This record gives sequence, C-alpha cells and structure tokens, in this order.
Amino acid sequence: MKLWQGRFETSLSADADAFNESLSFDKKLYKADITASVAHATMLGECGIIEKEEAEAIINGLNGVLADIESGALAVENAEDIHSFTESELVARIGQVGKKLHTARSRNDQVATDMRLYARESADRAIRLLKDLLQTLCDLSRKNLNTVMPGFTHLRKAQPINGAQYFNAYAEMFLRDLDRFCACRNRMNVMPLGSAALAGTSYPIDRERTKSLLGFAEISQNSLDAVSDRDFIAEYCFCASLVMAHLSRLCEDTILYTSDEYGFWVIPDEYSTGSSIMPQKKNPDLPELVRGKTGRVYGHLTAILTVLKGLPLAYNKDLQEDKEAFFDTENTLFSCLAIYTALLQKLKFDPERMLEAAGEGYSTATDIADYLAKKGIPFRDAHAITGKIVRYCIEQNKPFTALSAEEFRAVDERFEQDVLACVATRNSAEARDSVGGSSRSAAEKGLLALERRLKNY
Ligand code: ARG
Repeated sequence: MKLWQGRFETSLSADADAFNESLSFDKKLYKADITASVAHATMLGECGIIEKEEAEAIINGLNGVLADIESGALAVENAEDIHSFTESELVARIGQVGKKLHTARSRNDQVATDMRLYARESADRAIRLLKDLLQTLCDLSRKNLNTVMPGFTHLRKAQPINGAQYFNAYAEMFLRDLDRFCACRNRMNVMPLGSAALAGTSYPIDRERTKSLLGFAEISQNSLDAVSDRDFIAEYCFCASLVMAHLSRLCEDTILYTSDEYGFWVIPDEYSTGSSIMPQKKNPDLPELVRGKTGRVYGHLTAILTVLKGLPLAYNKDLQEDKEAFFDTENTLFSCLAIYTALLQKLKFDPERMLEAAGEGYSTATDIADYLAKKGIPFRDAHAITGKIVRYCIEQNKPFTALSAEEFRAVDERFEQDVLACVATRNSAEARDSVGGSSRSAAEKGLLALERRLKNY
C-alpha cells in the first residue's frame, strides 16, 4: 500500500514500482529519517498540533523501529522509500496514531532534511580522515627535513628541492581541502523541515524548536528553495573531487618515485601486489586504484550538476538521483583517504639515491647563472654564459661538479674559485631560503606553520 494510494483506482504496476523505488539505496538514511521524525513529533506535541500522549506514542514507536533496525531484528525492505518504510512500520506497531506523524510535513522537506543530516555526518568523517592524512604528511615532512631530492618541471629534473618541502606542498593542498569541507559542512547545516511540500504549512509549527532538536545552525528561509536545493550535495561532491585530484597527483608521484628508474621511495610489501605471470613484479596497485577512482568521483560530480540543471521550481523526482551519486562519492572518498594514509605511514625512503638523482641533469645550472648575476652581470647574459657551460659539459660528458675553476674561467673570466661550491647539490637547495623555498630552514618553517594552521580545525 502506497502512502499516496487514495486517489488511484489501481495499484502501481510492478515494473513501474521497481523503477520508481528508492528504498534499495535510500535505506542508508534510516537513522537520519527517524531522528528527524522524532524531532518533528516532539514539536507537533509541544505545539498542541497533536496530543502530547500521541506524540509520546509516536516517539516511542520510532525509537523501537530504530533499535530493531540497528540490532538487525528488522529488515528494511518492501516499501517505496525509507520514508514510507518508517511510517508503515510505525503504524504497524502503534496503530492509527502513527498516521498523525506526517501532519505538517511532506516527503519533500523530509528527504531534504534527512540528506542534510546524513551529509553533515559524512562531512565530519571526511574532515576527520583529512586531518589524519595531514598529520601523516607532516610526519613525513619532519622525517625528510634533511633529504634533498630532484624537483621536476615537465617531468624533467629542474632544481634540487628539500624533501620536507615536497611533503609540505601536498599538505598545503589537503589543508585547503580541509578548509573547503568545513565551509561546505557549515553551509549545509540549515534545516528545510517545515517547508512541507513546497509552500510551507498552515499549522502553527515551531521550526526553531525542531532546528535545535536536530542541532542545525539555522532554518531555511524559503520553502520553495528548501525542498529543491541540492547545492550541498554538489558542493560535497566538488570538495571530494578536489581531494581526489590531489590524492591522484600524489599517487602518480608515488608510482614514479617507487619505480626502478627513480628508486626514491619504497612501498612496503604489505601495500604492494604481484603479477600472476611475471614472478619478479612488485606493482603499485593501490596508488593506481586511487588514481583510477578519481574518475568515478568526478563522474558523480558531473552527474549531480547535470541533474540540477534546468529543473523547474520546486521539487522534482529527478532529485532522487542525488543519492547513489552521493553515497558512492563518500564511500570512495573514505576508502581512498584511509588506504592512502596507511600506505604513506609505511613508506620507506632512499635519501642517498634522491640526493644523487637531484644532482643529475645539470640541475644546478640556475645557481651558476645566479652566481654571475650576483656579480652584476645582467641575468639574461648570465643565463647565456651558463648555457655555454652546460654545452661544454655535455660535450665533455662531465657533470658541473667535475669541472675545475679553470674550465669555468675558460668560458668566462669572471668565474672565481667559489663557483665550485654553488654547483654542489645540497648547497643549491640550501641557497633558496625564501619563504616557502627549498632550504632546510624554510621547509621547517613551512612545516611548523602547517601544524599551527592544522590545529585550527
Ligand atoms: N525518494 C524521494 C527522493 O529521494 C523522496 C521524496 C518523494 N517526494 C515526492 N514528491 N515523490 O527524492
């Protein structure tokens, strides 16, 4: 029996019923749905819209339904959606009085309220997982304060950088993500309940009361908007998408840096996989999977934005499509954040290999140009002179560090003995002491600042 059966001569055909239903996926909302219903019934009783005893019977009945779902005694099945399920189960338990629960309410403000309650908890979990990841990145940064590694542009060695500076870079990204999730959580913390189907209600309800019972910060100010707004779902999916973008970049670095060709980091066996045919293989399946799952999270964001596009005011059934996209987004986000944090905690490093690699590819050429520029030679000319040194080294098949001061002077007589120190790999990283730069002390300051900012959340 449908909640809306009254005006229909026949019941919904089985195929239409199967197509229309949402219980198979919105049963996840059972707790939010019952919590919101308990608050609604409490308010109806306090405002005299239903009798106090009636409210009490409804609240006890609802709490019984919740307890039985949680214990596994009651299976959530055989209804159109979670709202129909809860109500029919309530009526089956307490009889006619259960039918008064839906006074001054519609499934439209009910589902909007449930989704906000659910998404608020989900955002809290995303925030906790992001904080764990950030703490892990800060730990890795501290561990790598003395590491010098190659910094890349265009995936070619560019300049030596500090290992802590590298991890700080990702921490900066995830700190922005954390801030975005907190802002998203605040914006969604607004209660639609009391908007009813779309136009509000003629009953003397007390929305402030349900708001405080449900812990919302505010109540919605327009009933048409409140029942049809799913911005908060789109925004959550966007926040998740950017987290995935950042994770995916870190995954790509992990895959490269742990390869034989790079050999900077090692993923321990517990987080590596093998090949069914090639016995020697140790594969980075986990980072690859996180990188791959980024695509599906982006897909859900695109899906929800497309559902919202062009919807006439106010509620439309299209909005039911927000759920599967949202639920899969949060699941994917949580599992990726958790597994990557665990993997990072176990990551091993080869600092000698990183230092060696950092010095390859004439990565200190900029230091030579800067050396000349600091003697008053215009930087453009210093760049050209250094280019000649690079060419000379390539011809001679030598790194800068194998050159003598005489060889430098043969290209330009303004070079002095001290040029030899400025091409040393570690000195190059140390020379960039600007705020946010690659010196150890700049990286340490960056780390301390990150930890300080992280404490604000
Ligand atoms: N399952 C529906 C949804 O997710 C609940 C709201 C139904 N409202 C309606 N007017 N049919 O949006």
